[in-house]
Amino acid sequence: MADAPREQWSSRAGFVFAAVGSAVGLGNMWRFSYLTAEHGGAAFVVLYLCITLLIGLPVLLAELTVGRGSQRSPVAALRHYGGRAWTPLGVVFVAAGFLILAYYGVIAGWTLRYGLTAIFGGFVGVADSFDEIAQGADAFAFHLAFMVITVGVVAGGVKAGIERTASVLMPLLFLMVIGLAIHAAMLPGAEAGYAYYLDTDFSEIFSHDVLTNAAGQAFFSLSLGMGAMMTYASYLRRDENLPQGSLLIGGADVGIAFLAGLVVFPMIFALGLSEKVGGSTVGALFITLPEAFAVMGGVGRVVGFVFFAALVVGALTSAISLLEVVVSAAIDGLGWGRRRAALLAGGAITLLGVPAAWSLSVLEVMDQVANNVFLLGGGLALSLFVGWRMRDPISEAGVGAENMRWFPLWRMLLRFVVPAVLLYVLADAIPGTLRAIGALFSA
Ligand code: PHE
Repeated sequence: MADAPREQWSSRAGFVFAAVGSAVGLGNMWRFSYLTAEHGGAAFVVLYLCITLLIGLPVLLAELTVGRGSQRSPVAALRHYGGRAWTPLGVVFVAAGFLILAYYGVIAGWTLRYGLTAIFGGFVGVADSFDEIAQGADAFAFHLAFMVITVGVVAGGVKAGIERTASVLMPLLFLMVIGLAIHAAMLPGAEAGYAYYLDTDFSEIFSHDVLTNAAGQAFFSLSLGMGAMMTYASYLRRDENLPQGSLLIGGADVGIAFLAGLVVFPMIFALGLSEKVGGSTVGALFITLPEAFAVMGGVGRVVGFVFFAALVVGALTSAISLLEVVVSAAIDGLGWGRRRAALLAGGAITLLGVPAAWSLSVLEVMDQVANNVFLLGGGLALSLFVGWRMRDPISEAGVGAENMRWFPLWRMLLRFVVPAVLLYVLADAIPGTLRAIGALFSA
């Protein structure tokens, strides 16, 4: 294998921007808002926040620790600390990257198209044609366009491609989302949206299904359970403060999700479209909101453009990290050059997106399999790995950190609490997902 020096971020900020870029994406805006609507509003939000704190952040720190410590892509990193027996987990991570990006690219394609719609046509009537927009040759064409951009950035390398893109786009995304939230707050009738979003009805919280979805969302949103954060951390210098990084990444991710809710719900309620909220699924953002933008007229085109531009930006920086998992594994494991790896992996993933581009039900099942099986299962395996198998994760995680008093608590969480919760969730999530796959084939 060629031993070119490993690529690195040019600065700590570069890493944080890239990692926040990975975390903040369609998950925060599209997925978070439709799941919140589907599972009873605030109760879901509270549960999601608890899981992010108790499970998500420890697993995030675990991924960063393995990545930075090994300075290797996931497959090699797991082998480095765990021996050959752990190689298959790395392979599963790479497979998850393939699976997720294949349908993620399709949804990102919709956002690209909606952004262009804002400029060229306006949103009138768009909501009614969602089924045609979302499925078929057009959906594939936009998926392809989005994948070409993603491949282009990843082929550019860690510094010049990934870091540069994220450092420009992430601040922009924050500004856009904050602006949108302010605009939404000024709409007459927005209060009903806040009430729906923020009043907690705790009767919903204890269903297994809500728990599964909140856990799946916490992992998806933080890009956990498939080696994306591990890969990014592998380009870090040895002396960065990882706990601090985890908090920054987690805070930005939750913050943007929360803000997105402050955009979506007030807008929908202010425009009297609330009856559409409860029953909505994957299409929520792409049906209800365009309708709201159409009602707003000319302003709606501007607001709609900003909204979908923010989505495209978020989706792009996340897609980059998904592709980078596959690419870094190919560079380290097969000795490929970066360009070749990006092109071949990107091409294969684009093709894998064909079924998702042709059928919403396939896309929905892919999303369910990815989150509720791959990411949660990957998180479980990873917590066991760092909790039990790695020899001294505490010292490794502590390099560059100032205060190590609570590290034993972190390890206890990884050893007992995280696996217990994830096992409990998976006990329901796996049969549920199998049923969904069965239903797809019998339909
Ligand atoms: N976190 C991203 C989002 O919220 C999705 C993602 C999942 C990215 C897993 C990388 C790995 O959109």
